Amino acid sequence: MNDEILIDIKNVKKYFPLSKKWFAEKRYVKAVDGISFFIKKGETFGLVGESGCGKSTTGRLINGLIKVDSGEVNFKGTNLANVSEKSWKQYRKPMQMVFQDPYASLSPRMKVKDILLEPLLIHYPKMPRNEKKMLVTELLEKCGISEFHLDKYPHEFSGGQRQRIGIARSLILRPELIIADEPVSALDVSIQSQILNLMKDLQEEFGLTYLFISHDLSVVEHISDRVGVMYLGSLVEIATKQQIFEDPKHPYTQALLSSIPQPDPKKKRESVILSGEIPSASNPPSGCKFHTRCPVAMDICKEKVPELQQLDIEQNVACHLY
Ligand SMILES: Nc1ncnc2c1ncn2[C@@H]1O[C@H](COP(=O)(O)OP(=O)(O)OP(=O)(O)O)[C@@H](O)[C@H]1O
Ligand SMILES: [Mg+2]
Repeated sequence: MNDEILIDIKNVKKYFPLSKKWFAEKRYVKAVDGISFFIKKGETFGLVGESGCGKSTTGRLINGLIKVDSGEVNFKGTNLANVSEKSWKQYRKPMQMVFQDPYASLSPRMKVKDILLEPLLIHYPKMPRNEKKMLVTELLEKCGISEFHLDKYPHEFSGGQRQRIGIARSLILRPELIIADEPVSALDVSIQSQILNLMKDLQEEFGLTYLFISHDLSVVEHISDRVGVMYLGSLVEIATKQQIFEDPKHPYTQALLSSIPQPDPKKKRESVILSGEIPSASNPPSGCKFHTRCPVAMDICKEKVPELQQLDIEQNVACHLY
């Protein structure tokens, strides 16, 4: 890994309108509410947080599936928010997605080989057929799908094998960034670690950069170099994996961590129980959005939005305690 920055996001916002009726009072779901972070080339940035906190929206904003309301999404120094629809094409290849449910994202009527050939036909129409076939076979093999399975359909595979095919497809155009949105959440725990190991091997072999989205901290711990913790559209802590798992600073990160079972009693974490429900993203609490559930909330937390501030090299926290 080097220090080159591949993705640099600055104060990005995305609000979804709740009502389309023109006479209704305009209300919005503040899905992403001013977040900033960067991803270095070759690293895995894990994005975690409870359901609905804006993780998938962040991924979709980066790869241009949806447009930002404001802020910058810089990819290798180009702000994609300013790029025209036409010029966007050149960024489709270097950024690819892997989804939670490969069954839904793989065309059921296509054979495995055709699923991988399709992007090549579109992007490299002049490539000889033999060469295309060789690329497809080689890549599937690397992902653990043997040549004998090329003529099968997605439904003939297990969930784990289907995710291998989904990963292979995401790599066929040799992307630089993979946005993996809950890629192992639908799989059994034993299969999860196989897929995570495969992703690590492929990262090394192809020099890939990952944005790895998951609600599951133990999965994120397995694969990430740095981690961002999201709560109701905001990033509350960004730090290295070691800092997050050994010395979490934000009360929300501490609460998320204390809910993971810890087999080693010596490493037992202090238990932090979150009170109350997650507030609605259309009407988030004032000040620090976490104050309604925070075990150590103070008066200032209701009034003032805490800025993300640097506590240590690489450890940034948005909390009035610091
Ligand atoms: N296209 C959309 N239109 C309206 N609201 C949306 C849209 N997409 C997402 N939202 C809302 O934005 C918020 C964030 O959603 P998002 O899917 O990014 O969360 P998430 O962290 O990925 O959750 P999960 O862990 O359940 O996948 C949610 O309140 C969601 O209902
Ligand atoms: Mg999601």
